[in-house]
Amino acid sequence: MGFHTYDPERAPNLEDASRYRYCSAEELLALFDQGGVVADLGSGTGFYTDDVAPYVETCYAVDVQHEMHDFYREKGVPESVELVEAAVDDLPFPDGHLDGAFSTMTYHEFHSDEALAELHRTLAPDARVGIADWTANGDGGEGPPLDERFMLDDCTSAFEAAGFSVEFASERRETFVCSLRREP
Ligand SMILES: C[S@@+](CC[C@H](N)C(=O)[O-])C[C@H]1O[C@@H](n2cnc3c(N)ncnc32)[C@H](O)[C@@H]1O
Repeated sequence: MGFHTYDPERAPNLEDASRYRYCSAEELLALFDQGGVVADLGSGTGFYTDDVAPYVETCYAVDVQHEMHDFYREKGVPESVELVEAAVDDLPFPDGHLDGAFSTMTYHEFHSDEALAELHRTLAPDARVGIADWTANGDGGEGPPLDERFMLDDCTSAFEAAGFSVEFASERRETFVCSLRREP
């Protein structure tokens, strides 16, 4: 199936520390972290992967664009991170392999029934997924155009339909965050 791509020329923009004003590392970890084996869905240059890496056994940096992994390799990949070139709707992991997963500013790119079904398959029962993304409620001054974004409720409803329960959800000015638990 088709997927959104991110212009590799713009990859250095993803390394801008001012991005933490939209989602901090501490906030992101609180949404999903239980240690163990986790996946960053649409990892890009590894900006947030690097923040998670010290707290987990393994973090798979999943991205569909090899150029993003090339950038990450050049920057330096932490020992606990494994680069995986794959789309979220076709993950190369066995059933129940993941103890957690997260995604920053990418749900609007990978969202589909197939992707959420694949997450349900690859996550262990009770594992959590943390999502931070741009909200359709924002002013669109930064990030993707408003018509490419979702509202928080669109995201949580899609996860509920795919067999997840909502643990925490918060809509802000420009972004939303939520924590979803895979039902057994
Ligand atoms: C906007 S960037 C964000 C990168 C990173 N999450 C961050 O916050 O720095 C989105 C990334 O998701 C990747 N991507 C888009 N659709 C995808 C999909 N269906 N499966 C895996 N990766 C995807 C793109 O290649 C790109 O690197």
